[in-house]
Amino acid sequence: MGRIRNLPELLVNQIAAGEVIDRPAAALKELMENSLDAGAHSIAVDLAEGGVRRIRVVDDGGGIDRDDLPLAVARFATSKISTLEDLERAATLGFRGEALASIGAVARVAIVTRRADERHAWRITCEAGAVSAVEPAALAAGTTIDVEDLYFNTPARRKFLKSESTEYSRCDEAFARIALSRPAVAFSLAHNGRRGAHLPPEDGRARAARVVGDDFAGPAVEVAASGNRIALSGLAAAPGFTRASRDAQYLFVNGRFVRDKVAGHAIREAYADVLHHDRHPAYVLFLDIDPSMVDVNVHPAKSEVRFRDSGAVHQFVFHALRRALSAPLEKTGVRDDFSGAPEKSSLTPVFTPTFSQSSFAIAQPAAAYSAMFEIAIAEERRVMPAPMPTHAPVLGYALAQLHGIYILAQNQAGLVIVDMHAAHERIVYEGLKAALDSAVLPSQPLLVPIAMTATAEEGEQAEAGRLELESLGFDVASTGPRELLIRAVPALLADLDAQGLLRSVLGEMREFGASRVLVERRNELLSSMACHGAVRANRSLTVPEMNALLREMERTEFAGSCNHGRPTWVQFPMADLDRLFMRGR
Ligand SMILES: Nc1ncnc2c1ncn2[C@@H]1O[C@H](COP(=O)(O)OP(=O)(O)O)[C@@H](O)[C@H]1O
Ligand SMILES: [Mg+2]
Repeated sequence: MGRIRNLPELLVNQIAAGEVIDRPAAALKELMENSLDAGAHSIAVDLAEGGVRRIRVVDDGGGIDRDDLPLAVARFATSKISTLEDLERAATLGFRGEALASIGAVARVAIVTRRADERHAWRITCEAGAVSAVEPAALAAGTTIDVEDLYFNTPARRKFLKSESTEYSRCDEAFARIALSRPAVAFSLAHNGRRGAHLPPEDGRARAARVVGDDFAGPAVEVAASGNRIALSGLAAAPGFTRASRDAQYLFVNGRFVRDKVAGHAIREAYADVLHHDRHPAYVLFLDIDPSMVDVNVHPAKSEVRFRDSGAVHQFVFHALRRALSAPLEKTGVRDDFSGAPEKSSLTPVFTPTFSQSSFAIAQPAAAYSAMFEIAIAEERRVMPAPMPTHAPVLGYALAQLHGIYILAQNQAGLVIVDMHAAHERIVYEGLKAALDSAVLPSQPLLVPIAMTATAEEGEQAEAGRLELESLGFDVASTGPRELLIRAVPALLADLDAQGLLRSVLGEMREFGASRVLVERRNELLSSMACHGAVRANRSLTVPEMNALLREMERTEFAGSCNHGRPTWVQFPMADLDRLFMRGR
């Protein structure tokens, strides 16, 4: 007698639940995604005891047909795709048809739903896999799904749950991700009868302010880049608003929150020399890519994706973000309205190299310069400077130097304080980079070529990437099945460990299609050169010298922070100063 048999359907669904619904937050995510797929404009979530006792999701979407109700809770039954081509182009969040069946196998589920053309609603329940008959019910429109007593019939799974507050915070995070991904949809969240988030339909920046925080969203840089079948949009933290942890990093690929190594790496790279080493970038970014260029069906929970051309995606994301972060001040301007800033900021220095698209450009440089001299002269006569001309430079005009360290300047918005050394360091650094970028990386032949053992993969990569390696200054030959010979290295980096460098370069070329290791190492070197070359503190500058530095900053990319990620300047708006002196205007 044979020993292999088919597993009962309930057990199959419970096994699937182990993957798809590993905790209440996962069930919540699936339910909310279903509501979005149904075209809901408003989604209300009500949780009890961290979601274990109850998850209720109420939406105003299209509803489910009466005859479809038993299928909705059946495994591999979906209304969203029907062919392999559909799967490869899936534009909906769901398509595997297993979420409701999995939840129904490990909880008590009740669905009440009403399509617009129905005279009343219909209800079905599914308890531990046992599906009820469809019965009439009352509901205005849309769908309400109640999930109670998660894992009541799978005690082993229940043991893996954490405390109520931990499970709740996971649910809150799942809610936040989905809410961020659809600012035009209204969301609300309640836990144990207490009302939490309440989000009206709004634009992306307003939604990010509510979910991630004003301090992030207010000054965040707007990203908007599109290429062939790929686009990146959203908000990225200005370097001064980065976080001590990775908790504010949201990447959505085609509307779905994912953790992706390729895009994540590109984002970190884009922040490489504007970020203090123990800080993390914060962002809410939407990568939209032709669905046929990305596989979302990698993981049951769809939290990972695979790109067909990961090298191209890496390049695109890196350059799009780099451009957004680098915009020189004179092209973008600074926001002079701080109405969005929270009250409490009145005394804290607001580092605000905001890159909003407001127009504050220098339209009349000549007029601006004569104004600058007027102010300089006025300053010397110790009289109040004339009112600011309307087309003033972003960082304004120098007033004085403080303790040999800071430049005080007056701009349209109020007082600007510049850290002389930090600012100059960035200017020197960007200058060095530009000088080098325009040339090919010079190569330095080694007196004694270095033989190194290599993996088969490294050997292949060295062969295939020969031309690119040469453009980077390397001369590498394959001298045996597991051996590479390094004959020349990039001249600027000749002092570094050549084998280690080549290994990292080959590794990156394989993973991301191109290597930035060299550029990074080179930039590290330039950065320390710049630090030594920059104006030291305690050097006294004349007003024209200070103004020259300010103008240079406005022209320089990434001028908002020094190479170590420290801010180079802060803005004290007039309103904040007035508040400080309790002066109503
Ligand atoms: N809130 C909802 N509104 C309308 N239809 C829904 C809703 N939730 C589920 N459905 C229907 O039930 C089906 C099964 O849902 P699910 O098990 O999550 O699979 P999938 O989302 O992968 O299709 C969906 O294809 C959809 O037709
Ligand atoms: Mg679904």
